[in-house]
Amino acid sequence: MLKRTHMATEITPQMAGQRVVLNGWVDTRRDHGGLIFVDLRDGSGLVQLVFSPEVNQEAFTTGEQLRGEHVIGASGLVRIRPEDTENPNLKTGLIEVYVDQVEVFNRAQTPPFYIEDNIDVDEMLRMRYRYLDLRRPEMRKNLVLRHQVTQALREFLDERGFLEIETPMLTRSTPEGARDYLVPSRVHPGEFFALPQSPQIFKQILMVAGMEKYFQVARCFRDEDLRADRQPEFTQLDIEMSFIEEEDIFQLVEDMLAHIFKQGMNRDIQTPFRRLTYQEAMRLYGSDRPDLRFGWEIVDLTEIVREVEFKVFSGAIKAGGVVRGLNARTCGSFSRKEIDDLTELALDWGARGLAWINVTTEGLKSPITKFFSDEAMNQILSALKAEPGDLLLFCADQEDVVARVLGNLRLELGRRLHLADEDALELVWITDFPLLEYDEDQKRYVAVHHPFTSPREEDISRLESEPLQVRARAYDLVLNGTELGGGSIRIHRRELQERMFAVLGLTPEEVADKFGFMLEAFEYGTPPHGGIAFGMDRMLMLMAGRESIRDVIAFPKTQRAACPMTAAPSPVADKQLQELGIRLRVKGVPKQ
Ligand code: AMO
Ligand code: AMP
Repeated sequence: MLKRTHMATEITPQMAGQRVVLNGWVDTRRDHGGLIFVDLRDGSGLVQLVFSPEVNQEAFTTGEQLRGEHVIGASGLVRIRPEDTENPNLKTGLIEVYVDQVEVFNRAQTPPFYIEDNIDVDEMLRMRYRYLDLRRPEMRKNLVLRHQVTQALREFLDERGFLEIETPMLTRSTPEGARDYLVPSRVHPGEFFALPQSPQIFKQILMVAGMEKYFQVARCFRDEDLRADRQPEFTQLDIEMSFIEEEDIFQLVEDMLAHIFKQGMNRDIQTPFRRLTYQEAMRLYGSDRPDLRFGWEIVDLTEIVREVEFKVFSGAIKAGGVVRGLNARTCGSFSRKEIDDLTELALDWGARGLAWINVTTEGLKSPITKFFSDEAMNQILSALKAEPGDLLLFCADQEDVVARVLGNLRLELGRRLHLADEDALELVWITDFPLLEYDEDQKRYVAVHHPFTSPREEDISRLESEPLQVRARAYDLVLNGTELGGGSIRIHRRELQERMFAVLGLTPEEVADKFGFMLEAFEYGTPPHGGIAFGMDRMLMLMAGRESIRDVIAFPKTQRAACPMTAAPSPVADKQLQELGIRLRVKGVPKQ
């Protein structure tokens, strides 16, 4: 075998005249009559090979038969390229290798798409031939970044005295709010393991075990509706610490992110990060994961319009709602059609309508101004800091609807007008989440975060009487409008954990069955503790500047939670089902 002496991009002009042996794939082949040029690709990049009958007839004949993605070894002398044939786009663009010996290790079928960046190909096809997709430089770069960032995280946490500890994949259900993936047990017919939605319970038990500082690069499994930033199987950087409070977590995470953004992207990020309470974030941006790369804050007008003649506003307030406005700066030129389109969007998001005022140099244009006194109108304009050229948008409804509608409008217009600086990294902590919310479908309270999150000390007395008023010791970290991570200070006493389960509507029997082992552990000396988990895939997606987390995962699943390459999931043999004691009511259909 022609064994490699150098990687492609290690070859420099200083090596002219030297013999090198290269191994790799044929990236492109150009036949110039008497000469054949081949760009050879290996893990480092590209280098140009030249085949000439004058150098070696046999190598030239083989060169003629090479096609894209053939795997070869080539030996030859390095030469400086003739003047005017340099390629400034290649790291090795000043040199080429004149091949006098070549070995074809393997031939290749014509790939179903080009092995190059920025291809416009159905993602299903890319995932079906993922090994070809990953040969494309931009995809390789994402995996290299992933490796570097994971490496940097491990180094950082090791230096801070954290232990990397693995927790089981075959386990019991962990309540993170999604459906479980279940694994049937052959040994215990009729019983199932659940794949972990997160290592939450185990990392808390590790604190009971005195580990003090734990981390894990942990695979998590959640059967939920998929989106561009969600996968059924994803990776968390999971952290837990004992004898700490919120500030310790914030400090650690800020140092850690500063470290990896420097290592992974050579970017300096500002610390400490901004902080917003959940209340503030919802009021100002209509979202608990606000994109702070642009301003456009939502303005509350409830007090100004409480008594106005316009029933849409005053009526909503009487019904317990609020009225808020968004100044869509520079959108004063929108046509009626464009405004109608925005209204349609608002209706989709649950609004009952979208009132608007066009601020022009000739005055206000709007169907609603006639219902307002000059004084009220002036107050509205000044609250929204309106100037000629602005379009003012209003929503009147229950608070959650108004937040959702104006928050989404803010993002939608932000996208259309390219308001966000693409290079900005706007990190913000969201704190003081409510502990509970009411689930209309299940007709019970559910934990906003998870049932192990501690209420704020001063709110504990209201846990049963005013559950929705209780604030949690939970925090999320948001980057450019994406939730990167979340965590909390935990409940560490059995009594409080039992009260929490009771508020969530679990019977003592259910608690004993699902969490008995955890409550038991809590009786053997549990330190105060807390932690956080980051979505590694999401973080890498943002660092790599990609739109989908699938691009930073070597073998991701489709939006329909399947793998086109292996055709998983798939039906299984009857014998396997019999061993597991399972009889199917639906029959799987083998995919082609
Ligand atoms: P949480 O459920 O908020 O917290 O998850 C932490 C982070 O994981 C990422 N994430 C996902 N990424 C890709 N695909 C998914 N389906 C997906 N779901 C979540 C998000 C999210 O911020 N045990 C707690 C953490 C703790 O309390 O310490 C937990 O799992 O970026
Ligand atoms: P109407 O009086 O129903 O014709 O509404 C007058 C204007 O108010 C229209 O532009 C509606 O889109 C708008 N509108 C109606 N309901 C609401 C609401 N709940 N919030 C904001 N604007 C609304």
